[in-house]
Amino acid sequence: MARPRHVVLLLAAVALAAPARGRDAYHKLLRGSPAPNSSVPESELSQRYWAAQAQASLAARLARPAVTGTARNVVMFLGDGMSVPTLAAARTLLGQRRNATGEETYLAFETFPTVGLVKTYCVDAQIADSACSATAYLGGAKANIGTIGVSANVPREHCTAAQLPHNHVHSIAEWALSDGRDAGIVTTTRVTHASPAGAYAHTSSRDWESDADIGDACAGARQQDIALQLVHSHPGNKFKVILGGGRREFLPNTTVDEEGTNGRRLDGRHLINEWQADKKARNVSYQYVWNRDQLIAASADLPEYLLGLFEGSHMQYHLEADSKTEPTLAELTEVAIRSLSRNKKGFFLFVEGGRIDHAHHDNLVHKSLDEAIELSAAVERAASLLAEQDSLLVVTSDHAHVMSLSGYTRRGGDILGPSDDKGDDGVPYMTLSYANGPGYRPHTDAGLRQDISKLEYRDINFAFPASVPLESETHGGDDVAVFARGPHHSMFTGLYEQNQLPHLMGYAACIGPGLHACHK
Ligand SMILES: *[C@@H]1O[C@H](CO)[C@@H](O)[C@H](O)[C@H]1NC(C)=O
Ligand SMILES: *[C@@H]1O[C@H](CO)[C@@H](O)[C@H](O)[C@H]1NC(C)=O
Ligand SMILES: *[C@@H]1O[C@H](CO)[C@@H](O)[C@H](O)[C@H]1NC(C)=O
Ligand SMILES: *[C@@H]1O[C@H](CO)[C@@H](O)[C@H](O)[C@H]1NC(C)=O
Ligand SMILES: [Zn+2]
Repeated sequence: MARPRHVVLLLAAVALAAPARGRDAYHKLLRGSPAPNSSVPESELSQRYWAAQAQASLAARLARPAVTGTARNVVMFLGDGMSVPTLAAARTLLGQRRNATGEETYLAFETFPTVGLVKTYCVDAQIADSACSATAYLGGAKANIGTIGVSANVPREHCTAAQLPHNHVHSIAEWALSDGRDAGIVTTTRVTHASPAGAYAHTSSRDWESDADIGDACAGARQQDIALQLVHSHPGNKFKVILGGGRREFLPNTTVDEEGTNGRRLDGRHLINEWQADKKARNVSYQYVWNRDQLIAASADLPEYLLGLFEGSHMQYHLEADSKTEPTLAELTEVAIRSLSRNKKGFFLFVEGGRIDHAHHDNLVHKSLDEAIELSAAVERAASLLAEQDSLLVVTSDHAHVMSLSGYTRRGGDILGPSDDKGDDGVPYMTLSYANGPGYRPHTDAGLRQDISKLEYRDINFAFPASVPLESETHGGDDVAVFARGPHHSMFTGLYEQNQLPHLMGYAACIGPGLHACHK
């Protein structure tokens, strides 16, 4: 083992001896003091600082007790499109907002004891969408792209195969209900969007959120739209909390919702009223809320069933949100946990930061990173409300995106700014950029790239540069991270297929189809 170490040291020595832009054609390392507006702490100059920090971290690992009881509660957090580079950039932004250099910061869940990696491909797709991946991480089976809660026997948009019960994939939310626990969903997207729908819907198309979307495609095939399934089918009709956006999918196109959005349904059904009528018929307490004030008021005396729809479509981006009407993801998470915690047997809760993905699709880095920071705040809130001994928290993503963090910028360099370096064309480039998307900019008349450092890149709607012009930036096929805390967290280590996640959560909680393998 000694020999390889020597080689590494030798290479390091050569790299240090080389001039900043010297003989090593591969590493044009930049020199100089830290970037303005932040300074590297003096303590970091001493190797003793780094050794002490590493030893403290080692001691914390050694002192950490094994948590091997049964998970009464499971909360799964999903950062839609929260790739590993998104995590690195978001934690740096979080630190820089606190006037630190940034890179050394941790998002709340990045301190969890176990980290793993999952492979996100789907049965018929190298790169996943949020539908087939939701079927994997909530239902335990990989499926075809665009399909939700059905096995890969069901081709996309196939009208009859999706009706066959043996093709239905049952989610961990349903496993929890079967065990007498409660279940709920929280998202910043429409509650009928692909990720949350993975908890309750069976459909061959993620696009069929209301009956208007199905149209004539499945005439006579009795395919129910996703909103109808949530209100009237098992397990959605048993969910104690449903919080997010998407009122329009529940309302007739002849009505306008509380904030002026037109309903989309063509069947004339008012599913928000029907949800209330169903609860009334079951003689259970219930409440529908549509803004933050009502949510806060309801949380003082929670009904048994709570439906909160805060927007006609997706909830507003946190950076632009009207704080009077829009609760934060952390607030939604807290209300959901307080509601579900009343069941002594426990619960399963799904919480999605769904718009990390949307902002990436538009190359809007600042909004995407801010949404990831909001997810971190929601995890932090949950971690403070639930005991490590009986509550499993799992944080992951459904698929990656194609944002990269590049260049040799100095420590503390503005994560949202240009690199310290320039291209060989003499034109600056951004530290964060995309392989594709609407941020593509044609070259100038002189045949050069546009100088983005002269553009308004601080604007939250600035589209970061992309190499290939595309109306919507694409997902990425790289692995995504999994962070776990609580009972059996160590089971989440390693590299594995995405559909293993609910099986691991089921093992820790002793629910689901694999009870023979339960640790009890
Ligand atoms: C960061 O520094 C700016 C400018 O000095 C100051 O206005 C702001 O309050 C500081 N923020 C934090 C979180 O310390
Ligand atoms: C609602 O949909 C029906 C059926 O497509 C259509 O005839 C009607 O014009 C729509 N109404 C509104 C207000 O959009
Ligand atoms: C409905 O629930 C209330 C409170 O739990 C109970 O007092 C009442 O008898 C129930 N009514 C019916 C018809 O079951
Ligand atoms: C440094 O701070 C100044 C003044 O607050 C600000 O205008 C500038 O954008 C900051 N630069 C970076 C790299 O954050
Ligand atoms: Zn997406």
